[in-house]
Amino acid sequence: MPAIIIFFASFSVSLHKSLPFLLRKKKSSQQKQYSGDKTGPDHWGLLDPAYVTCDDGMQQSPVDINKNSLSRFVTCAKKSLDFDYKPIKDAVAHFNGHTVEIDWTPGPKTHNNSITIGKKQYNLVQFHFHTPSEHRINGRHADAELHLVHRNPEDKSLAVIGVLLQAQATNVPFFKYITALHKSVLAAIKPSSSPSNPSLEALLQDTACYGTQPIGEEGTKVDHKVPVINFSPLVHALKGFTPRWEYSGSLTTPPCSESVAWNVMHDPYPIGLEQLRALVDLQGYNARDIMDSRGAAHK
Ligand SMILES: *[C@@H]1O[C@H](CO)[C@@H](O)[C@H](O)[C@H]1NC(C)=O
Ligand SMILES: [Zn+2]
Repeated sequence: MPAIIIFFASFSVSLHKSLPFLLRKKKSSQQKQYSGDKTGPDHWGLLDPAYVTCDDGMQQSPVDINKNSLSRFVTCAKKSLDFDYKPIKDAVAHFNGHTVEIDWTPGPKTHNNSITIGKKQYNLVQFHFHTPSEHRINGRHADAELHLVHRNPEDKSLAVIGVLLQAQATNVPFFKYITALHKSVLAAIKPSSSPSNPSLEALLQDTACYGTQPIGEEGTKVDHKVPVINFSPLVHALKGFTPRWEYSGSLTTPPCSESVAWNVMHDPYPIGLEQLRALVDLQGYNARDIMDSRGAAHK
C-alpha cells in the first residue's frame, strides 16, 4: 500500500536523525518503532507534517471493543458484507522490517478478490499481521491480528477486515508461509559485523541476559514466494465475515488516514504456536495502542 511505503521511507530517515548512536550501528529496530521513544506512536504526528492526523484525528484506530464502555462509533455490524474471494496465485510473503506482509501483482485478467459493503466494492490489495492484536476485546489483546486491506478502485477509500488470531498447538494451513519466510530470513542473515562502540556492543552481545538482537532491516531483503493462497478455510470459519463489529476508523500506521471502513470479526481464527512464534520473532511488538472512547490518540 503506498501509504505504508511512504511511512517506512521517511521513518528510517527520521531514525537516523534522532537516534544517532544506537541506530547508526544497527540500522533498524522494530522495538524502537513502537516503544515510547522519539519515533514511537506517541511521536508519529511530529515525524512528518503529513502525519498530523496521527495526533489530531478523532476517528483513530485501533479501539477497545468493550461491552461496558463501547466507543460510540463501534457497532455490531448491520450492513451487508458480501465477498468474492478465489485462491490467489503467485503471491509474495515478505518482511519489511516491522511487519510480515503478503502481496501480489494482479494481471489485467486476474480475478480481483473483493468485498462489497452495502453497495460499495473494495478489492483486496494486501494482508499483514500485528503482534499482539491491535484491537482489543473487553480490554484484552488477542495473540495476533490479521488485516485484510481492501481498496475501492474509484475513490481509493479503504476497507479493512481485522481477524483476531488465537494460538493453538497445531499449525494452520493458511499461515504456512509464515514459518517458511521466517526460515528464509534466518538463513539469509549474516552474523553481525564488528562493533563501532565496543562497550555497547559487548552489552548487546550479552545474549545470556538480553537475548538476541531483533531481525529488523537485515531481514527485509528476503522474499518468500507463495504459489497459492486459499482463503476458503478462513472465510468459512468466520461464517463468511458475518458476526462482526464495524466502525469508521483509520490506518494504524502513519499517515493514520481516516475514513477507513473497519470490520473486526467477532470470532477469532486459530494460528499455530510455531507460526505465532515465527511471526513474533520477525515482527516483535508492532501494535499501536488503543484510542480513547472519542477515537483520539491523546487525552
Ligand atoms: C482488478 O482491479 C484493477 C484495479 O482496480 C483493475 O485495473 C482490473 O481491471 C481489475 N481486474 C478485473 C479482472 O476486473
Ligand atoms: Zn494493520
